[in-house]
Amino acid sequence: MLVKKPPMGWNTWNTFGHDINEELIRSSADVFVEAGLRDAGYEYVVIDDCWSKKVRDPQTDRLVPEPEKFPSGMKALSDYIHAKGLKFGMYSCAGQRTCADYPGSFDHEFLDAKTFAEWGVDFLKYDFCYKPTSVDGPTLYRRMGMALRASGRDILFSACNWGSDNVWQWIRSTGAHMYRSTGDINDNPESYRSIARSQLDKLGASAPECFNDVDMLTVGMYGKGLVANGGCSDADYRSQFALWCMFSAPLMLGCDIRKMNEETLKLVTNRELIAIDQDEEARPPMWGHHPWSDKLLVLVKHLANGKYALGFFNMDEKDAEIPAILADYGLPASAGYDVRLHDVFGKEEDKTWREYVRVNVPAHDCRVYTMELVQR
Ligand code: GLA
Repeated sequence: MLVKKPPMGWNTWNTFGHDINEELIRSSADVFVEAGLRDAGYEYVVIDDCWSKKVRDPQTDRLVPEPEKFPSGMKALSDYIHAKGLKFGMYSCAGQRTCADYPGSFDHEFLDAKTFAEWGVDFLKYDFCYKPTSVDGPTLYRRMGMALRASGRDILFSACNWGSDNVWQWIRSTGAHMYRSTGDINDNPESYRSIARSQLDKLGASAPECFNDVDMLTVGMYGKGLVANGGCSDADYRSQFALWCMFSAPLMLGCDIRKMNEETLKLVTNRELIAIDQDEEARPPMWGHHPWSDKLLVLVKHLANGKYALGFFNMDEKDAEIPAILADYGLPASAGYDVRLHDVFGKEEDKTWREYVRVNVPAHDCRVYTMELVQR
């Protein structure tokens, strides 16, 4: 299994919760192709919790899809998704039950991994509810890590223990390819801001083959759906998406992609932002604050092509001027270089700066540039 770049796709949970069925999955897979998401790099169509019957098959002990939601079964759905050039993701849980109280994979890890492989599953999100207290968390992720490898199919292992047990220290050793590092996101500014801030000092552990997953995006939800709780503005969605890209985090859409407006589609298919996310070196950003406000954040990230990504994030309630002193990120005045900035949102003209960059950023919004050194 090679997961060299942060996985990109869509997951049912943020908007639909338990209200899922095969028609929703098929029509969303159609949108990947029709709206250009697939061409922009989105690949995984993921069914989250609530897809199975409440009990296992009494004869075989296997998980069984709920026939009312998935009358054609999972193999047919997976064939449909594969025929579109996409990949199929599913969900289970390390405990006895899933978070929404369906059967979990505890003590059934190898059987379930085999079942997923037979259905043509390419991605497994693995949650952490109803864990027996007698077994520690790392052991449970080790088990599914081995079970997936033994399943006979390449299945991306997406661990989801919400950052517990200092997950970044050991998760890579279990074979996981991405790992949720925080509690669940909600569709409001406080939620994505606190998630982003909580990971700034832990991104060094996020690297090719095992990426820090700061949760599914709420971009484009506008306060509708399961995790709505307030909603966000377009400025917030720009900031959220850009933060995830500066982090080289997995980009899993969580809105109803069948109903995306033009602004949302433009943002989530922004080629320059996606290139920052998918940069092959996946370096964590250097970060700094405005001298007198930790709500005004500057991120600078080395890119594989020798350029940099430079992001200014205003997490405050009022507009602000945010400075970045270039010496703080490795470019002292004595170096003899200016920097040339290119706006990834395509709104500003390219501009050259010396020693510092200073930009006006409206409340909740961000400014993101690629930055090139130019000899004076
Ligand atoms: C947990 C996870 C969520 C989602 C739900 C499903 O809360 O963190 O992302 O998968 O379970 O019940």
